[in-house]
Amino acid sequence: MKLILLGPPGAGKGTQARRLMDEHGIPQLSTGDMLRAAVASGSSIGKMAKEVMDRGELVSDDIIVGMIAERIDEADCANGFILDGFPRSLAQAEALDAMLAERGLKLDHVIEMAVDDEALVERITGRFTCANCGAGYHDRFQRPKVDGVCDSCGGTEFKRRADDNEETVRSRLKVYHDQTAPLLPYYREKGVLSEVDGMAPIDEVTRQLRSVINGG
Ligand code: AP5
Repeated sequence: MKLILLGPPGAGKGTQARRLMDEHGIPQLSTGDMLRAAVASGSSIGKMAKEVMDRGELVSDDIIVGMIAERIDEADCANGFILDGFPRSLAQAEALDAMLAERGLKLDHVIEMAVDDEALVERITGRFTCANCGAGYHDRFQRPKVDGVCDSCGGTEFKRRADDNEETVRSRLKVYHDQTAPLLPYYREKGVLSEVDGMAPIDEVTRQLRSVINGG
């Protein structure tokens, strides 16, 4: 299965991608995670990306498209993948179409996760992750079962993202509406777009996604 989760920052793409990945045995390809790994490694791409990400703007299409083209050729993508945070502009969507056509592949679903802007600001500013395994949590909506201890790995260190402050979130939302939202009519016209209610509780969103993926 080749799936795109499309939605604004904080819509729940990462949260849901991790659940679907476990169920379907296919990887989550998050361009945000790839860029954060590049930043942490201190590579030249990482140094360039950090400033752009801190402003909440988009990293150049060439870099992103190159990263995805390499990644989908890896062995763990043979049965499909979940794209999280890519594509994010019409140029990226067209590059993805060309990439898939060259390999004789096609998208099964593009699923929009629709959420109100104000809810997104609250979600993002309350988000934190386990520093050891990356499991995601929220101060209000998704706390660990035991305070200060990761449910998945028992880790006790947590971290917050540098771009998860209110000012950068508002800039990321503007970029989403200006550059990424035009992908909705693009995929609607291709007949692959579905929508789930990203405002619903996390388990209900998972249920709706399963229903789209399993055809009703
Ligand atoms: P990226 O890492 O992709 O960030 P994003 O798109 O802004 O998305 P987020 O990861 O913030 O949100 P999410 O939808 O995954 O939400 P989550 O599941 O964590 O990109 C970061 C930056 O990298 C970009 O700004 C850009 O600079 C650059 N970049 C990345 N890709 C690029 C590309 N293709 N081109 C160019 N530049 C690129 O959920 C958020 C919180 O809400 C969590 O705490 C969660 O617990 C909670 N939550 C989730 N679902 C629910 C729910 N249903 N109800 C209540 N709470 C919920």
